[in-house]
Order: sequence, then C-alpha cells, then structure tokens
Amino acid sequence: MSDRNAVSRVRPRRPGTARARGTLTALGAAGSLLVAAVTAAAVALLLLADAARAAVLVAVMVLLCLAVLAVLGWGVRQAVRRAIRPVERIHEELAALEDGDLSRRVPVPSTGGDTERLAGRVNGLLDRVEDAALRRRAFIADASHELRTPITGLRTRIELALDAPEDGDAADTLRHSLHDVERLHLIVEDLLLLARLDSGDVPEREPLDIGALVETEVGLRSPPVPTTVKAEPGLLVEADRPRLCRALLDLLANAERHAVTLIEVQVRGEPGEAVVEVRDDGPGIPPADRDRVFERFTRLDSARSRADGGSGLGLAIAREVAAVHGGSLYVADGAHGTRLVLRLPLAGSR
Ligand SMILES: Nc1ncnc2c1ncn2[C@@H]1O[C@H](COP(=O)(O)OP(=O)(O)O)[C@@H](O)[C@H]1O
Ligand SMILES: [Mg+2]
Repeated sequence: MSDRNAVSRVRPRRPGTARARGTLTALGAAGSLLVAAVTAAAVALLLLADAARAAVLVAVMVLLCLAVLAVLGWGVRQAVRRAIRPVERIHEELAALEDGDLSRRVPVPSTGGDTERLAGRVNGLLDRVEDAALRRRAFIADASHELRTPITGLRTRIELALDAPEDGDAADTLRHSLHDVERLHLIVEDLLLLARLDSGDVPEREPLDIGALVETEVGLRSPPVPTTVKAEPGLLVEADRPRLCRALLDLLANAERHAVTLIEVQVRGEPGEAVVEVRDDGPGIPPADRDRVFERFTRLDSARSRADGGSGLGLAIAREVAAVHGGSLYVADGAHGTRLVLRLPLAGSR
C-alpha cells in the first residue's frame, strides 16, 4: 500500500479559502477608496475649473474608474482561481483513480472549510473501497484454494484408475471420489449461502420458540460427548428457520469437534433479547483469535479441521445469519474451553 500521507496533504502558507477571502476584501476596500478619491477629486476640480475643461476632466475620471474596475476584476479572478484550485486537484486525483490504482488518495487542503471536509470524506470512502477490493481478492484466492484441493484429489484418483484399472479397488476409488464431491458440494453451498447473505436479501421470517428449536437441533445430533440443554421456554424470535438452524448447527458441530468431556447449551432471556450459549471444555479459542475465527476460511488448526470436513466458513456464516436477524455472535470469555454466544432480538422488541 502506498504512503498516503506523502500524497494526500497540500499545505498552503495560509489557508486557501481564508486567503482568497482576505484578498477579495483588500481589493474591494482599495477599489472603493480609489473610486471615492477619484470622485472627490473630480468634484473639487469641477468646482474650481471652468466649464470648458469640465468635459476633459469627466473623460479622465471615467478612464480612471475603468482602470480601477479592470484591476478589481483581475484581482477577483485571481482570488476565485486560488479558491477553486484545491477542488481542481481533487478532481484531477479522482480522474487518475479511474486507472484502477486504489491506493491513491485525493489531496486534503488545510482550508478548514467545505473543501477540506469533502476531501476527507472522499478519502474515507476510498479507504473502504480499497479495503473491500483487498478482501474480495483474498476471498477469491481462498475460495479457489479450497475448491482446488478436492478437485485435485478427484482428478488424481480418476487418472490412476484409468491408467491401471486392474491395480485398484474400483469401489474404494468411487468412495473416495464421492467424499471429494461431497466436500465440493458443501463448499459451493456455503459460498452460495454467503453470497445470498451478502446481497442483503431479507429472508422469510416466522415467530420461532428459540428454546424449542435449540432442543430439537441438539436432539437430532449424535454428539461424541454428553450434551446438556437448559432452555427457557416461550422465548420468541422472528427468524428464518433454515438459516437459524444452519447457524446453530455450526455452533454445535464446532463444540462437538473440540469438546473433551461435555457440551452445555443454554437458552435464556435477557431484556429484549434471547441468548443462546454453547459451551465446551475443549482447548478454547485464544483471545487474539476471537475475531479472526469469524473471518471466511479461517481455521486455527487447518490440518485437523480439514480432515474433519470443516471449510472454515461456518462461523462466518453464523455471524452473518445473526447480523441479518439484528443480532450478534461472539466468543465470550471463560475460565476454560469455548463459550460462543448468540444474541437475537425477541419478537416485538424492535
Ligand atoms: N468450539 C471451538 N473450540 C475451539 N476452536 C473453535 C471452536 N469453534 C471454532 N473454532 C475455531 O474456529 C475455526 C473456524 O470455525 P468455523 O468457521 O466453524 O470453521 P470450521 O468448523 O469449518 O473449521 C475452527 O477451524 C477452529 O479453529
Ligand atoms: Mg464449523
């Protein structure tokens, strides 16, 4: 990324707008004084001189006034040009941005006025555009990498089976190939779901008893360790059932993957909110990684997660699901293990 400070600040000796305003005021005062002096001199001369010279005097006065007006006009033009120069520079820089170099920033004049504010806002907007472009690039690279792994496995297996069909077990080849295809399918489904969540499409919502929903979801699973559910009844949330189930499923699957001896799920009501907490007694998530785990394709232990089938999109999806429902999802502090907390607004509280 470029050194923004190096390109962004233009520091005139005096603030541009104030200086232009000062120049205009000085010119106006000087012009008025000159016109007043010329007029006073003309009147005095007219009174003293005889009528024959009056016409000559008037002509001289008119010429003097015209000269004064010309000087004033030139001064005003200079002041206006100086005042709009920063805007022209912003314009030039924006035109250069069309070349695709998103690291460029417009110059911010230290005028303390509208132009400085405008330049600041344009640069803020450019920061966000650049950030979004970088994240999109990283996302495409990660997604390609994730898709390439099962595709490469699939291809190698098919090539081996075709090269020496008598060497391998056809059923085994097909079983492994199916596993790769399922993995591809899951990644593509997750990517499509993320794209739909990103597009801001508002899902169909219905009032759901969140405690009952969590109990049902836990009941459908076969966890490797005992799982307890404590759910307060009658907590209603307005939610899209499939998406909310998808988020719960990821929290439960993650806990099952990491728990050592138990998983505890709790659903409770707090003012205006339903809170779902999924706790496990596994290794926990280090404080430094508690935001990072919600980024797309983040796996703290990639070898283990990949072997278990995780694509690193689960928590990213779950957080998006929480957000589109007006809620939040975060890793809370805990003595040991992991505590994931999902908060959703209660129906009728928004
Ligand atoms: N309960 C948990 N305990 C420890 N680490 C976790 C837990 N849940 C998630 N993580 C970490 O966060 C990462 C991202 O989780 P997730 O987005 O669900 O992806 P995936 O489950 O596909 O790996 C996981 O790979 C793991 O490293
Ligand atoms: Mg997961």
